Amino acid sequence: MKVVLGVGGGIAAYKAAELARALMDQGARVQVVMTASARQFIQPLTFAALTGNKVITGLFSSQSPEDVLASSVEHIRVAQENEVLVVAPATADLMAKFTHGLADDFLTTLYLAFQGKVILAPAMNTAMWEHPATRDNVERLAARGNFILPPEEGLLACGTTGAGRLPDPQRIADAVVTLAHPRKDLDSETILVTAGPTQEAIDPVRFISNKSSGKMGYSLAHAAAARGARAILVSGPTNLPDPYGVEMIRVRDAREMRDAVMGKLKDATIIIKSAAVADYFVLNQSTQKIKKTSARLSLELDPTPDILAEVGRNKGDRLLIGFAAETQNLLEEGRRKMNTKNCDMVVANLVNQEGIGFESDRNKVTLVMSTGEVVSLPEAAKHDIAHQILDHAMRLRLAIFSKA
Ligand code: PMT
Repeated sequence: MKVVLGVGGGIAAYKAAELARALMDQGARVQVVMTASARQFIQPLTFAALTGNKVITGLFSSQSPEDVLASSVEHIRVAQENEVLVVAPATADLMAKFTHGLADDFLTTLYLAFQGKVILAPAMNTAMWEHPATRDNVERLAARGNFILPPEEGLLACGTTGAGRLPDPQRIADAVVTLAHPRKDLDSETILVTAGPTQEAIDPVRFISNKSSGKMGYSLAHAAAARGARAILVSGPTNLPDPYGVEMIRVRDAREMRDAVMGKLKDATIIIKSAAVADYFVLNQSTQKIKKTSARLSLELDPTPDILAEVGRNKGDRLLIGFAAETQNLLEEGRRKMNTKNCDMVVANLVNQEGIGFESDRNKVTLVMSTGEVVSLPEAAKHDIAHQILDHAMRLRLAIFSKA
């Protein structure tokens, strides 16, 4: 995807650097355009180093006659070469100019020439955001087909608390990918995904958990939503922002995860269980913080509900995809889990190799399918792996249906 990132002059301009990075992590090629006031907050060099592209800072950046001629049509070239224009932060001034068609610098001129998707992420002081002039401009821009990603509430740089904060850059990047995704082939699916670890409490401040970051499951939910599915994500505790366009259910322990999954099962057409659910919970959980003594402490553990197995028993004609996190015998374990849990596919991954599996942005998986087919996917970013898993899931369902 080819994206122009327009950076306006606000304190949130520094977050645009993270946004450029997040867009590139999702495979986008990013061309940054900065306004003069954005350059008061952050240097073009930061974006040039991140994107590997020259940053555009003005309509006429050079004085030589040839360059002036070339510059005079550069906004047209940039408009034609890119599919998405995302402006973050979109200031009140920029939105007023966009509304009225003022074109006195590169970004506002590009806006008029741009025929692709436009996404505006406003950020400003609450009073400015709520001012009738801004409200009016935002409404008119939205009515014109520009997508407005509303600011979040929180503590603002000016010291006040309220609406006006730029959303998390990862969430903006997710929104850009979702809104601009060319394929909407999953628009008749409801895909229920589980992600992250569970935390099994020992006492009010301690718990047993594992290394899952949630990245694999969040990538799956985001990919499903980007391709038009209704995506429901049941997530254990993670540090990741809610993926754009995904219905979130946050849970803490395995029993809460089980209840959330079973509660949504009837809505789902495909269930993907990528969560690293704890296998045991603490039976003699303390309601007060356990005091440290020199005596040995024993915890009594009981097995958690096997959610995958329970879904497998009740799946009906839904497609069920389990995961297998292994340190050896990948294929055997994948097959065993598929058969014992009544899955249609098991995504098996090694979790004892550097750079893949738990916590990493990348993974390397083998898909074991109920048809007997085994597909090993080359190592790739988790968002790429997510799309490939969804592609194989759709193909597998066709194969299962045509056999039935
Ligand atoms: O979150 P990341 O940092 O991105 O890492 C991704 C991952 C390594 C966690 C992911 O790719 C993965 O392998 N997820 C499955 C982890 C796991 O718990 O595997 P398992 O082999 O122990 O469990 C097999 C299957 O049973 C899984 O689908 C699991 O969700 C499910 N399960 C397990 C226990 C339980 N009580 N209920 C379950 O439903």
